[in-house]
Amino acid sequence: MNKISRNDLCWCGSGKKYKYCHMDQDKKLSDLEDKGLIAPPIDIIKTPEQIEGIRKSCEVTRKVLDMVSERIKEGITTDEINTWVHDYTSELGAVPAPLNYMGYPKSVCISINEVVCHGIPDSRVLKSGDIVNVDVTSILNGYYGDASRMFIIGDASEKAIKLVETASKCLYKGIEQVKPFATVGDIGYAIQTYAEGKGYSVVREYGGHGVGNEFHEEPFVDHCGNKNTGMILVPGMIFTIEPMINEGTYKCELLDDGWTAVTADRKLTAQWEHTILVTEDGVEILT
Ligand code: MF3
Ligand code: CO
Ligand code: CO
Repeated sequence: MNKISRNDLCWCGSGKKYKYCHMDQDKKLSDLEDKGLIAPPIDIIKTPEQIEGIRKSCEVTRKVLDMVSERIKEGITTDEINTWVHDYTSELGAVPAPLNYMGYPKSVCISINEVVCHGIPDSRVLKSGDIVNVDVTSILNGYYGDASRMFIIGDASEKAIKLVETASKCLYKGIEQVKPFATVGDIGYAIQTYAEGKGYSVVREYGGHGVGNEFHEEPFVDHCGNKNTGMILVPGMIFTIEPMINEGTYKCELLDDGWTAVTADRKLTAQWEHTILVTEDGVEILT
């Protein structure tokens, strides 16, 4: 890294002198790096302009999920939900990020029962008792917003409902950890401890991720981990937290379509996701 002097302009583009801007934060980060933590690379710290753009994109994602929550019910196909998401996203002036992303064929991911994530919409009909994750990512003016929710179709078993509720609780346990100079490990630790305490397991093969300027950026947000380890959080970072919580084993298998991840034991799994911003004094949920 090039050495920047106290009286130089700050690297963040604020136009302020370094000593009045990010100098103290950088000092603190380099001290923490000496203790084995990881400082965030500069390019994942968003500028105020990027934050505004990502905020608006997250608003689209939230509206699309609100629309789905009003219409989803027993008897509809996942292809129909895909069409709703595609059309409403376009109506809001945005583009569905999954479509053609690394060859993904649809506009939304829909993961039912034992499907951990990345389920592909098709002619399957939702039936009473299904637990369904709908994962929406929108691109508005080049900025990404990513979120998912669970939906319980008709009458589900008590154990399915409990899993869905626990997964939601895990998301908020993770979000609660977020503030400047906390770590990604703090998030994973909070989620893992809570989930395992309830007798569930936490998926390791997939995780949250930096998001905003791209679909998937640094850091990888592990939903398992140890306190005070990994990347340090600083204001202006934007990432998802999206714990996948399993009834049985944490292990996953990939189906032949190359996308659909299922639990290795085919037991139930549930996931909730938000895009969040690290603020000066804590966290803001953008979706
Ligand atoms: N929205 C998913 C996530 O939370 C990623 C989906 S990638 C896709 O990271 F290609 F399957 F859409
Ligand atoms: Co995500
Ligand atoms: Co997502």
